[in-house]
Amino acid sequence: MSASLPLNSPSWNKAEFESRLNAFIEKEVPEPRLREIVLYALHTGGKRLRPRIIAESRPLVSGLTEDETYGLGIAIECVHTFSLIHDDLPCMDNDDTRRGQPTVHKKYTETDALLAGDILFSLAPLALKEEKPRFALSTAQNLSYCATAMIRGQHDETDMTRSWSKDRLKTTQHLKTGMLFEFAFSAGARWVYGPQHPVTQQLAQLGQGFGLAFQIFDDLEDIEQDGSSPKNWLNHFSRQEAKIMATRVLTHPFSDHFLTVQELRSRIEKLNPIP
Ligand code: IPE
Ligand code: IPE
Ligand code: MG
Ligand code: MG
Repeated sequence: MSASLPLNSPSWNKAEFESRLNAFIEKEVPEPRLREIVLYALHTGGKRLRPRIIAESRPLVSGLTEDETYGLGIAIECVHTFSLIHDDLPCMDNDDTRRGQPTVHKKYTETDALLAGDILFSLAPLALKEEKPRFALSTAQNLSYCATAMIRGQHDETDMTRSWSKDRLKTTQHLKTGMLFEFAFSAGARWVYGPQHPVTQQLAQLGQGFGLAFQIFDDLEDIEQDGSSPKNWLNHFSRQEAKIMATRVLTHPFSDHFLTVQELRSRIEKLNPIP
């Protein structure tokens, strides 16, 4: 997504998140060069959307501590960053820049980018606080499940043997983008209440809705640049249908608890009038 969302919301302290993230990497990656590459990948201006969403879920999850919130945020940001480093590689999207700066393989080497992605993926569960082993195990398993789904979606997207359709678009999007947002929205509730609790399930549903709206919004915004891509939603739905679909999924009863959701909804509503 090109434009950036505002970063201030009541339960989110970005400076605190950045400082804990750096301390985590410094502790877990002692080799100076590898550490430098990993920190470069983590600090090129990402919006920290997923950790921010976890922080915003706190009022709905009584008992979720600050430490646990940041631990979950670091874990998901590590997985997200891994996905972007590998997504940019020449064998994938072959992008030279991300967030206006050289991609990791351009700034360093392809080997560096591959291994920086690998280490971020394998580090992620270590960020989960271990004082509550039962919760940590369930959450680590869910993170694994969501990351696996993201990779399945990435692979599905690269499968040139099949053509694009509405159904394929929905499935790929659900896997590729939706599952990490599902984790972000529901991880706090899962941590405290467990996977079967209605709040966890409702938040997971909101996460999927957010992922869908996020993707559609991206395509609506990017129509001038990649309008001819068969993966663009506007090649399968009219602009009006896409806009309605994206706004509708953001009317979930828990939406009002999340400034992130409110911001996305208002940005979709403000998009150019339907031609
Ligand atoms: C971009 O996600 C990748 C997709 C899922 C489409 P973000 O827009 O959250 O990326 P950053 O971290 O803020 O750059
Ligand atoms: C980014 O996907 C990676 C994942 C969602 C896992 P895209 O290739 O669609 O997004 P950008 O444009 O590179 O951020
Ligand atoms: Mg891609
Ligand atoms: Mg890409």
